[in-house]
Amino acid sequence: MNDRFLRACRREPVDATPVWFLRQAGRYMAEYRAIRQHHSLLEICRTPRLAAEVTLQPIDRLDVDAAIVFADILLPLEPLGAGLEFTPGDGPTLARPVRSAADVDRLRDVDVAADLGFVGESIREAKRALGGRVPLIGFAGGPFTVASYLIEGGSTRNFVATKRLLYSEPEAWHRLLGRLARLTLEYLEMQLDAGADAVQIFDSWVGALSPRDYRTLVAPHARAILEPLARRGVPVIHFGTQTAGMLRDLRDAGGTVIGLDWRVDLARGWEAVGEGVAVQGNLDPVALLGPWPELARAARAVLEDASGRPGHVFNVGHGILPETPVDAVRDLVRFVREESARPR
Ligand code: CP3
Repeated sequence: MNDRFLRACRREPVDATPVWFLRQAGRYMAEYRAIRQHHSLLEICRTPRLAAEVTLQPIDRLDVDAAIVFADILLPLEPLGAGLEFTPGDGPTLARPVRSAADVDRLRDVDVAADLGFVGESIREAKRALGGRVPLIGFAGGPFTVASYLIEGGSTRNFVATKRLLYSEPEAWHRLLGRLARLTLEYLEMQLDAGADAVQIFDSWVGALSPRDYRTLVAPHARAILEPLARRGVPVIHFGTQTAGMLRDLRDAGGTVIGLDWRVDLARGWEAVGEGVAVQGNLDPVALLGPWPELARAARAVLEDASGRPGHVFNVGHGILPETPVDAVRDLVRFVREESARPR
């Protein structure tokens, strides 16, 4: 197996910096759009054969060093009883958002094997299809990010309903995050049992909180997920955006690899999280839409910031955009591999 990715996660030396991309499967790829013509996003997620096929599309096309199972962080919201739909243009919509303590108590108990077992099946199928070419990453949403969709009923700019609940009903907030944390841990353990080689927690929107609020309102719940996972000895990537002011807090909550977005220099971000963890990131995904010399310059800056230290996984700082030219992504993979090549 190409184990650059797993070695870098463990801060071991590698022959070249491993590279993969957040949202490496998706609408920017013609192969994905072709499948989407016949199937909805949720259908793809719930059909292991299709999910595995989409998982492998970027492996075949880009030559990246890791695969990520095709799924979505919002899938657990359906069995919780919130009513999940994706509508073109509007993104996710939840028919029954959580707005009060009573709503929290009405959430259903999720039977992970019965209700979300299809993600485990997708992982088994994808592992078979990969035949050991590259490791496979499982994932779930982080507690703040998943709670925000559940409370807002969809995407949001200012997190008004979420913050209203957490400030006015802190007990209900902690009860909700406690439940989400237990569910998420069980969900990720199921993915590891199905064969995932590493897991990533996407707490994408956690940077909407002040660091102080993060520490009291989210970190204990993030820790309840991350600590038991790390004890299994697998790489656990803890990812968020707009986290420059709370990187130490994110690291203290757990994870063996910390995701950085481009709003912080990778070198400074690494300094903030400390030497005991690996880092993943942190190219601005919009750089992939620009001219090649600028893209190469931006990618080289990321590599120079990492300066060949063991424990860097090259990635974008947030997901690849639908407008991205596939060739730019493929050229970038080749560039990172050549630029970072070193004797072992
Ligand atoms: O290749 C991969 O990265 C794996 C698949 C993946 C998807 N969603 C499939 C998807 C992953 C890792 C996610 C994570 C996810 N989902 C996040 C966290 C990552 C991040 O970007 O911060 C979030 C916030 C979501 C929730 C979500 N899913 C939203 C808000 C939307 C709609 C907005 C949009 O981009 O259209 C989705 C839809 C979605 N999930 C798509 C894909 C490929 C695109 C929609 C489609 O095919 O119709």
